[in-house]
Amino acid sequence: MFAPDYLVKYINSAINKIAYPEEPKGLYEPIKYALDGAGKRLRPLLTLATCDVLGGDIDAAKNQAIGVEMFHNFTLLHDDVMDKADMRRGKATVHRQWNESTAILSGDAMLTLASQYMAKGDGTKTWDVLTLFNQTAMEVYQGQQYDMDFEHRYDVSVEEYIEMIRLKTAVLLGCACKLGAIMAGAFDSERNAFYKYGVKLGLAFQLKDDYLDTYGDPEVFGKNIGGDILNDKKTWLLISALAEDETDTVKALIGAEVEPEVKIAEIKAVYDRLDLGNRCQALMDQYAKEAVDALNTVGLSDKDLEFFRQMAQDAIARTH
Ligand code: IPE
Ligand code: IPE
Ligand code: MG
Ligand code: MG
Ligand code: MG
Repeated sequence: MFAPDYLVKYINSAINKIAYPEEPKGLYEPIKYALDGAGKRLRPLLTLATCDVLGGDIDAAKNQAIGVEMFHNFTLLHDDVMDKADMRRGKATVHRQWNESTAILSGDAMLTLASQYMAKGDGTKTWDVLTLFNQTAMEVYQGQQYDMDFEHRYDVSVEEYIEMIRLKTAVLLGCACKLGAIMAGAFDSERNAFYKYGVKLGLAFQLKDDYLDTYGDPEVFGKNIGGDILNDKKTWLLISALAEDETDTVKALIGAEVEPEVKIAEIKAVYDRLDLGNRCQALMDQYAKEAVDALNTVGLSDKDLEFFRQMAQDAIARTH
């Protein structure tokens, strides 16, 4: 199979070649800004790699790979408005660099562009691609709604949290893999095994994102640290702290009038006391393992399987 570095270069080059209309600049400049190459390109990498190992031609999956990255970046423009986030990939978020209306409208345009890219091809696979894409998009919106609803609840269970991150994040990684399988003309059993791999990987990936939101180095992570705590996001860390902290420090801090730095430091101290960082990492390990196990039925070569094992390892070992 192609080396991952080559596939990332391939997708970056395809994204760089996208020709946008000159005007209105206010619509297109933010799209270019969001897609300028600082993202990890995880989702299109999954699309291309899956297509490749299942015997497909990566050129056949290029448009769907662009589409999935475009959709991902659309969700980020809107997510940063919803999460009141100022920094992404080490620079100002679109709504901070421009304004909220820009983030909404350029985001809308990216969603439409994503669906146009998804529909490209000889037509034989378009129905399968669009059915998957639309189903996935609806699930992402459902997950985002739960994520916001949970900000106002104290009794969110770990089970509800896992379902929320499955919807908001993991299904898109499953979709990314399955798109590659569809474009390779793979059997249903192969499509489904890769979908399962992507979803499990996505659960591990979001757990790590939540972990880094508290424990990351802002210079490396590229986002402000503590945003989840300030927004009362019900991450695995916060849910576990609410359940296990017999001093009720966390509960008292939710919705309280305290300085942001104090709230972050005090809640983090509870996490540390309960060893939640390490325990969260152990949960990620479990999902990463389940991801790789999902590919057992596919009959990949050792080298190809190793690529997907490494992707899972990277998702949980990453610092950004
Ligand atoms: C950020 O995704 C949003 C989440 C689902 C956690 P990534 O961490 O893949 O973002 P980029 O595209 O690499 O910046
Ligand atoms: C990401 O969740 C989910 C989507 C963007 C759909 P987060 O809100 O945790 O992502 P970041 O941390 O802002 O990248
Ligand atoms: Mg966010
Ligand atoms: Mg969010
Ligand atoms: Mg996050």
